[in-house]
Amino acid sequence: MNRQPFFYDITLRDGNQSLKKPWNMKEKEFIFNKLVEFGVQAVEAGFPAASEMDFDAVTRLAEIAPDNLVISALARAVEHDIERGIEAIKNCKRPRLHTFIAMSPFNMQYVLNKKPEDVRKTAIEAVSYAKNILNKAGCKNGEIQFSVEHFGDCMDNLDFVIGTLKEVVKSGANVINLPNTVERTRIKTFVDMVEKVYNALPKDIMIAVHCHNDLGMATAATVESYFAGATQLECCLNGLGERAGNTNMYEVAIALHNSGVEVPLNLGNIYELALTISEMSKVEIPEKAPLIGPEALAHRSGIHQDGAVKTKDMEKGAYRPIHPTLIGRKDDEKIGFTSQSGKTAVFEIISDAGYPITMQEAIRITPTVKEAAEKVGELPTRNIIDIYFNEVFNVKGDFRLVAFEKLSENVFNLKFFHKTEFFDLNAHGNGPVDACLSALKQAGFPQKLVDYEQSAMDGEIFGSGAVAMTVIHFEDLEGKIILARGKDESTLKANVKAIFNGLNLMNKKA
Ligand code: KIV
Ligand code: ZN
Repeated sequence: MNRQPFFYDITLRDGNQSLKKPWNMKEKEFIFNKLVEFGVQAVEAGFPAASEMDFDAVTRLAEIAPDNLVISALARAVEHDIERGIEAIKNCKRPRLHTFIAMSPFNMQYVLNKKPEDVRKTAIEAVSYAKNILNKAGCKNGEIQFSVEHFGDCMDNLDFVIGTLKEVVKSGANVINLPNTVERTRIKTFVDMVEKVYNALPKDIMIAVHCHNDLGMATAATVESYFAGATQLECCLNGLGERAGNTNMYEVAIALHNSGVEVPLNLGNIYELALTISEMSKVEIPEKAPLIGPEALAHRSGIHQDGAVKTKDMEKGAYRPIHPTLIGRKDDEKIGFTSQSGKTAVFEIISDAGYPITMQEAIRITPTVKEAAEKVGELPTRNIIDIYFNEVFNVKGDFRLVAFEKLSENVFNLKFFHKTEFFDLNAHGNGPVDACLSALKQAGFPQKLVDYEQSAMDGEIFGSGAVAMTVIHFEDLEGKIILARGKDESTLKANVKAIFNGLNLMNKKA
């Protein structure tokens, strides 16, 4: 579909009117500039007849608006509101007066106390009046948006609504907005109604939807309405708005993007924008909020963690709707370890913290990490690292190193226990590893060393000064390779500790 969505922001009007402390002019201007950077096509700047503060704010935003941006002002279908609205926006390049009246049978009867014919008359007159005032104000590019408040409740009088809208269009409305003012029923019902209006009106009339989120389906209603013919999508940053809020702009943008629609917004601004709006509105982002919630990229089940890690660098992830960087989020699919997690999480958490670990080691220490998590819930990284140190660098078993000393150039002394038996042996060797293995052989414990590597570790991550780490690979009797590590400030001791850890690991297996 090559029809570009037209993003009409209502953060500064519907969003603002729902705040415990509505924004002042300075705050509105700050957010307005963010909206411009984000790239929205229209901003409903406020309701000028509501207060002097709102009038001044809308006037100011209209003055500073870029030429291509539509600036809209809300007005009830009454002359005074329309005059104030146009007065506030008349100086921008693309002013739009947005007037509305409810047309649901319920609202006409119980709230407006008006007969449908009177409501129709009011709607037509309001639009004609707005057109007249726009002309008088010299707004050549001025537009009129008309909203059927409570459109979502008009399933029983849809013909009346459509008939009225045809008249409203003839009177000069350019945009027809169909709000789901209170979300009460199925999306399909609403979207079918939007489609009927779209089919009934001239094609040069832009159809808009404005959905509230009372049942948590506003994003779906908006996205599906787009595919049913609505081009203007009225959304709020962070899903702010009356009651449960309005349609969340980020969710709609990403859902359309993922559906192959060209979205004319700077999607990379989303995450920062969300944090800014949350701070300024004092409305916290829920942990589980889609896309922007602190938990939106966290994985705790072992299966999900495994899939997430395997697809980490791919644009499409096994367990995420987007790559986080698309919305300017750090590439951090957070892995949290609980009793539901597994080896992949241990591996990732230890590696991310900067420590060396193999998947075999992760598999080996996972039962201990899980046991600890069963007691506390999500286990802090520090505790996982402590387990890693205990289990990887200090493997307990039948062999216990007591001392290893260099006696002369090629002669070393090794003291150790095997179970309760004590050994005190001198051995020759071409270096400490060779001598230690030769002493073990004398004691009746020959080992096949297949690889040996020593490196200096960053002392900081081990919480001390420079540390030597030795990694050895033994081949056991079944030909299986066992990796063991040792660390110490002395390279000599690091070597021997690695060997004894290896002995205990092989012994454990047996
Ligand atoms: O929710 C609504 O119906 C509105 C109208 C004023 C468009 O906000
Ligand atoms: Zn609304």
